Amino acid sequence: MSKASTAEAPVATATDALEIHDLRTDKTENIPIADGAIRASDLKKFKSDDKDDPGLLSYDPAFMNTASCRSAITFIDGDKGILRYRGYPIEQLAEGSTFLEVAWLLRHGELPNQSEYDQFVHDITFHTYVHENMRKFLEGFRYDAHPMAMLNSSVAALASFYPSSAHIFDETERNISIIRLLAKMPTIAAFCYRHVKGLPFVYPDNDLGYVDNFLSMVARMTEPKYEANPIFTRALEVLFILHADHEQNCSTSAVRAVGSSHVDPFSAMTAGIAALFGPLHGGANEQVLRMIKEIGSVKNVPQFIEGVKRGEGKLMGFGHRVYKSYDPRAKIVKKLADQVFEVVGVDKDLEIALELERIALSDDYFISRKLYPNVDFYTGLIYRSMAFPMEFFTVLFAIARTAGWLAQWEEMLLDKEQKIARPRQIYTGPSERPYKSTIQHEHQPGQRHKDALRV
Ligand code: CMC
Repeated sequence: MSKASTAEAPVATATDALEIHDLRTDKTENIPIADGAIRASDLKKFKSDDKDDPGLLSYDPAFMNTASCRSAITFIDGDKGILRYRGYPIEQLAEGSTFLEVAWLLRHGELPNQSEYDQFVHDITFHTYVHENMRKFLEGFRYDAHPMAMLNSSVAALASFYPSSAHIFDETERNISIIRLLAKMPTIAAFCYRHVKGLPFVYPDNDLGYVDNFLSMVARMTEPKYEANPIFTRALEVLFILHADHEQNCSTSAVRAVGSSHVDPFSAMTAGIAALFGPLHGGANEQVLRMIKEIGSVKNVPQFIEGVKRGEGKLMGFGHRVYKSYDPRAKIVKKLADQVFEVVGVDKDLEIALELERIALSDDYFISRKLYPNVDFYTGLIYRSMAFPMEFFTVLFAIARTAGWLAQWEEMLLDKEQKIARPRQIYTGPSERPYKSTIQHEHQPGQRHKDALRV
C-alpha cells in the first residue's frame, strides 16, 4: 500500500493503489486509492468461483469507516479536536461572526461581502412570516405535544404551501426554498413553544435581527417591543454558529439520503429533524438535564458513574463518533456558560455537571474509551438558564442545523457522482420455501364489528 494519507492529504497520484490478493481464487488485483479512500464498488472485481457471485461487498454497519460523499463544507479532525467551516476555525467564527453570515458561508463557500450580506439578511427577514393556516395546523396539537414532533410535522406541512419547491434543479426555486426554510424555522419553533405554554403566538418583528426576533417571538408578553438581554442574544447566536453544521452526522446523512430521492427540500429537512430528535443525537442535550435531575445531588455522582460503568446507562453528553480527544464546541460552550451564569446566577445543577465531568475525566473507563464531554453536555444548562424548557433544547439545535442541512442538501444535488442513496445488505433470512398459511382468511364481520366498537 502507498503512503498513509491524512484527512487533509492532497489528491492521491495515479500510482497510489491497494494490492489485494484473493485467497479464494489466488487472484491479485490493484485498487486505486484517492484521497485516502478506495471505492467500495472496485471490490466487485473480486469474485469467487461461483458464476452467480456478484462480487465482493463492503460491510459497514453504521458507516463507521465509509465516506458517503465528497464535501467541501465542514472539516473535522477528531483526534486533534479541530472543526472548521469552509476552512475557518470554529473558534474564530464563534468569536466574531453571526449565524446568518455562517449560514451564507456554509452554502456559498466564501464569506459574504457587505452587499451580499445585507441582501441576505433582508431576504431572510422578509420571509419570516408563515401562512395563517400554519397557525391552525399548530393549534391542532395537544397541549403537551413535544415541540420536536410539532416542528417536524410543521416543516413537512410547509411543502404543501410551496409546491413549486419540488423543482429542485431550478436555482431560483432552490434559493427561495433555502431562504424560506432559514427564515421560517425560528417562527415555527417559537409558535411550537407558545402553543405548549398556552400563550398567544407572537408574530415576527422585522425590525429585529435573527436571534432577537426569535427571542421576541418566544418571550414577548404585553410590551410593545421586546428587548432581549444582549448576553442571551450573543450566547444564542454563538450556540447557533456552533451547531450550524457538523459534516456527515446522523441527521445530515438522513437529509442527504432522503434528498437523494429528489424530493422537495421541506420534506428532506424533516428527515433531519426526525434524526436530530433521537437521544443519541440532538436529543442528548435534553437527556443530559434529565440525567442530572435523576442524579439529584453531587454526593450521588460516584454511584451514578459506577452504574454507567456497569452498563446500566450512558453518561449523556459524553462521547462522540469522531472526536476522540475533545469536542472543540464543548470548550466554547463551557466558556459561554460562565458568561450566562454571571447574568442569571450559577445554575443549581452546574455543580453536578462539573462533578460528573471531573470524575469521568479521571476514570479509566472513560479515558480508555476516549469519552469526553461533547457539545450537548453544557448547552442544556445554558438553555435552562435562559428559561427554555428541556423539551425545547433540541428545537434550538434544529434551527441552527437547518443552515448545514441546506448547504449539504444542495451540495449533494449538484454533485454529479451522487445518485439515490441505496445501500446494499447481507441477507440473513431463510432461503426459498413454499407458502403454506395456517390462518383463516374468511371475513368475519361480527368479530370485526365488535372490535371496532372497543376503540
Ligand atoms: N457513556 C458511557 N459509555 C459510553 C458512552 C457514554 N456516553 N459513549 C460511548 N460509550 C462506550 C460504549 O458503551 C462502548 O463501550 P464498549 O467498548 O465497552 O462496548 C464504547 O464507549 C464505544 O462507544 P460506541 O457506542 O461504539 O461509540 P459510537 O461512536 O457508536 O457512539 C455516541 C457515539 C455519541 C452515540 C455515544 O458516545 C453516545 O451514545 N453518547 C451519549 C449520547 C450523546 O451525548 N450524544 C450526543 C453526541 S454529540 C452531538 C450530536 O451528535 O448531536
